Amino acid sequence: MTDYKLLAAQIKSLAEDEPNYIPVLSNASALLYENMEDLNWAGFYLMRNGCLTVGPFQGKPACIHIAPGRGVCGTAVVRDETVLVPDVHQFPGHIACDGASESEIVIPIHADGQVAAVLDIDSPVKGRFGPEEQAGLEALVRVIEQRVRWE
Ligand code: SME
Repeated sequence: MTDYKLLAAQIKSLAEDEPNYIPVLSNASALLYENMEDLNWAGFYLMRNGCLTVGPFQGKPACIHIAPGRGVCGTAVVRDETVLVPDVHQFPGHIACDGASESEIVIPIHADGQVAAVLDIDSPVKGRFGPEEQAGLEALVRVIEQRVRWE
């Protein structure tokens, strides 16, 4: 079982050392990938000129740009809420960067009230993410929102 409180504390501590988004999000993706079972991708897409652009991540190379409204990531942006997908094959418009993905969770990250990025986590196991993962990851995202500097 993943200790999300411990992960949040580790990210908080790392961000105290250096709050710039590149080291914070790079280490956050590594911590998540190392500490959650059955993942094939964990990382961030950053909002750049109105489009999501791939940011720090762990896993196979991923698609670079995702427009708002496209795929699970772009859906989370336009809804401005977490999108939990137990079976990606049942999600119309899912973007398959890695054919191994079976389930996915995407959580928006805010700066100044706007979506500045999303946390995207993929699993090769159907139904990998449930309410416990959602709550733990959303708490972790709140820590990132409070601590990270985007410049
Ligand atoms: N599956 C995502 C695309 C990003 S990859 O999973 C890394 C989507 O549908 O938005």
